Amino acid sequence: MTRRSVLIGTGSALPKRAVSNAELAAQVDTSDEWIVERTGIRNRYIAGPDETTGTLATAAARAAIAATGIEAASIDLIVLATATPDQTFPATATSVQHALGCNGGIAFDVAAVCSGFLYALGVADSMLRSGMAGRALVIGAETFSRILDWEDRATCVLFGDGAGAVVLEAREVGDDDKGPGILATKLHADGAHGPMLYVDGGVSTTGTVGKLRMKGREVFRHAVTNLASVLNEVLGEVGLTADDLDWLVPHQANARILEATAKKLSLPASKVVITVDRHANTSAASVPLALDAAIRDGRIQPGHLVMLEAMGGGFTWGASLIRM
Ligand code: UT7
Repeated sequence: MTRRSVLIGTGSALPKRAVSNAELAAQVDTSDEWIVERTGIRNRYIAGPDETTGTLATAAARAAIAATGIEAASIDLIVLATATPDQTFPATATSVQHALGCNGGIAFDVAAVCSGFLYALGVADSMLRSGMAGRALVIGAETFSRILDWEDRATCVLFGDGAGAVVLEAREVGDDDKGPGILATKLHADGAHGPMLYVDGGVSTTGTVGKLRMKGREVFRHAVTNLASVLNEVLGEVGLTADDLDWLVPHQANARILEATAKKLSLPASKVVITVDRHANTSAASVPLALDAAIRDGRIQPGHLVMLEAMGGGFTWGASLIRM
């Protein structure tokens, strides 16, 4: 037997307001045709004044906890991935903890931008397996609309707001790859590529929040290479191949990146969960939003082998293999 982090529930939350490509085309020099053809995006959700990263995270967490039947108070670890926290401090995770009524355990934020959920999952998994905690809430939540330059058509059409959450429980399970739980996670960063995707403001530099800047074509090129490499690294760690996967749940940045990554792994498109058309790129929220969608619509079933992956600012990238 081995101690593993078993995924026992998922949830998600989106802002009330949906924004179509046509609506954006009325504001900036773009078109539904360009956005769909280059990215696969048709719609995104944008937070209103009463919606924040914290309120979306709390709603996603509540849905995930409801899916498990456990008491919120039994959660002793919250790791929240975000690049758009409610305040500079305290960590948004602590306000979520308070709203859920599970005070007293561990709660903190992780900043790894679009790879944030993978980083948060890796940290929570390590803490559960080491015995520091027994039940964890891992959340990816963002309000990227607040850091977009709404006059820059090359970036403002790509992103959206939202939150996704999973509940993990430490359990003793059979130690082969058929037992449930997180089987392997690999995380990477290469700070040399910081200027490819960044926000041009910050607490200790400009004293402002700043706006997102991206060299899209360069990010695209690195994304496909890095993702294929880390997926093979995770599979190699557990002695499995892409053929063994039931589902790939990728970071939802661009449908063309998802297609190219699947092709590199010789994975059929039918095994790739795609929500970028509905949600656009929600950064750290995108993987748990997609995972929740595919669990709730019945595609992902108990026993399935599911690969999660993401790549984003830093650059940071990573992948995690889970037996459901
Ligand atoms: O989540 C973090 C990771 N982020 C990503 O993975 C994003 C990766 N990058 C991408 O997804 C793509 O590079 C983009 C979708 C950002 C851009 O697609 P692209 O095919 O690389 O286009 P491009 O940047 O090379 O631009 C092509 C043309 C340019 O016009 P010219 O110079 O050829 O005349 C742009 O000015 O498309 C133009 N363009 C637009 N046209 C209409 C850029 N944005 C738009 C727009 N509407 N919104």
